[in-house]
Amino acid sequence: MREAMHGSAIPHPFADGGYKKLLIGGEAVDALSGQRFESRNPATGQRLATVAEGAAEDIDRAVAAARAAFEGPWSRFKPFDRQRVLLTLAELVDRHFDELSTLDTLDMGAPISRTRAGRQRIVGLLRYYAGLATSIHGETIPNSAPGDHLSFTLKEPVGVVGAIIPWNAPLSSSVWKIGPILATGCTLVLKPAEQAPLTALRLGELALEAGVPAGVVNIVPGLGGVAGAALAAHPGVDKIAFTGSHTTGQAIVRASAGNLKRLSLELGGKSPNIVFADADLDSAVPASAMAVFANSGQVCSAGTRLFVERTIYDRFVAEVAAFGAALRIGDGMDPETQLGPLVSQQQLERVIRYLDIGTQEGARRLGGEGRLTQGALADGYFVAPTVFADVDDGMRIAKEEIFGPVISAIPFDDMDDLVRRANATPFGLGAGLWTRDIGKAHRLAGAVRAGSVWINSYQTMDPAVPFGGYKMSGYGKESGTQHVDEYLNTKAVWIRI
Ligand code: NAI
Ligand code: MG
Repeated sequence: MREAMHGSAIPHPFADGGYKKLLIGGEAVDALSGQRFESRNPATGQRLATVAEGAAEDIDRAVAAARAAFEGPWSRFKPFDRQRVLLTLAELVDRHFDELSTLDTLDMGAPISRTRAGRQRIVGLLRYYAGLATSIHGETIPNSAPGDHLSFTLKEPVGVVGAIIPWNAPLSSSVWKIGPILATGCTLVLKPAEQAPLTALRLGELALEAGVPAGVVNIVPGLGGVAGAALAAHPGVDKIAFTGSHTTGQAIVRASAGNLKRLSLELGGKSPNIVFADADLDSAVPASAMAVFANSGQVCSAGTRLFVERTIYDRFVAEVAAFGAALRIGDGMDPETQLGPLVSQQQLERVIRYLDIGTQEGARRLGGEGRLTQGALADGYFVAPTVFADVDDGMRIAKEEIFGPVISAIPFDDMDDLVRRANATPFGLGAGLWTRDIGKAHRLAGAVRAGSVWINSYQTMDPAVPFGGYKMSGYGKESGTQHVDEYLNTKAVWIRI
């Protein structure tokens, strides 16, 4: 890759081209191998940092530090103490939000308008977990055992958690792992994605500043097949919380078998977004476009199968394509930018391959010139938003997760047929539906096999509302009170009186 050919490097204290170390046991340390890798800005090719490249022996050190913290100082933190630390971290993240959102934008390309807009949810998540920290408790349960016994349950932290996250929303993914750790009293070894490791490292520093004891939050960047695989297989890890592709999710399930560690998996999807002729089309058009084009399609719950009732199909699909064509594409640091680049050369090649596949499969392509290289775009991985019309359920572009700004638009006539087709996927993360008919809305909300159903909106999120998949989109919830249960064991205690 080349250095930025245009403009000047964006000054950022944490992305100044310097060297970033692993964070283990509260210390910034080199990888034992001395290896390093580069993280670059996918809009410009500019090198942001060289990063210590963690491997199996560094994962060993980090797991040991996490175990020592779990059994040591952290175990003496009362719920109030963990709450205080979480509230302080929320405060620090709020105060440093511009820095953190800019780091996400530089490292993975998302528009700054998008990363900045996450403030309320990200800070709100940390405050929400702070509330939960003092709300975790077992139950006293009446029993009918012979003799007199008192029985009750204790909720205990599962222990050392390994978290492995992707590159599409580094700050959000990191907070979704660190938050429940601090709420429950677990400890963490977090392996960020090699494409965008910087925000997690910075957040690790802020956690220390917030008063989190050394070793509670360890950040070990490295390659998936090396550091990630070592973490997933590690006998000293009690649970893995993974976000990413379903194929890597399957590898993690296999790797976890050695010590039967607990797992939660937030994987991808091919989510249906269903538009009826009776919907408010003025809001359905832009929302259906952004249900996929947002973050250049690099969103796990993107509504990539756009089912449209046949009577409005041609008009609706043309309007979605026109909306996409009018989006401003460019460097995410430009406040006017609506779509940034894809994260990497590899992701670019993958999306271009699917554009070719869709054309070969005979879908009708509306707009979408493929890779964009004019002017400043030449230095990044930019792809035009694309709508494929007249897509058949059997086409690969209707079945496989593309993870780019590509919509597969499919006509439908009949409700029963629609439900069957919407569910005819191994995935089940999200679903959208657009109608003014409350009966249809309720019927479909029940019939769709997916973890989140959005009616007359798409991808709305809140710290208090659980999010997570059905089927091959994974298991376990993030956000909501269910989230902390993923990090707790239930112990039953019996006392003969
Ligand atoms: P990935 O799922 O392989 O990577 C996610 C994380 O897992 C990264 O931190 C990576 O280093 C780690 N990892 C990779 N192999 C591992 C292994 N064997 N053991 C443990 N950890 C491992 O996804 P990748 O390669 O970045 O993207 C490929 C495709 O996956 C994308 O085109 C997209 O379709 C899908 N994807 C879906 C995501 C989602 O949220 N639904 C997120 C990222 C990717
Ligand atoms: Mg990067």
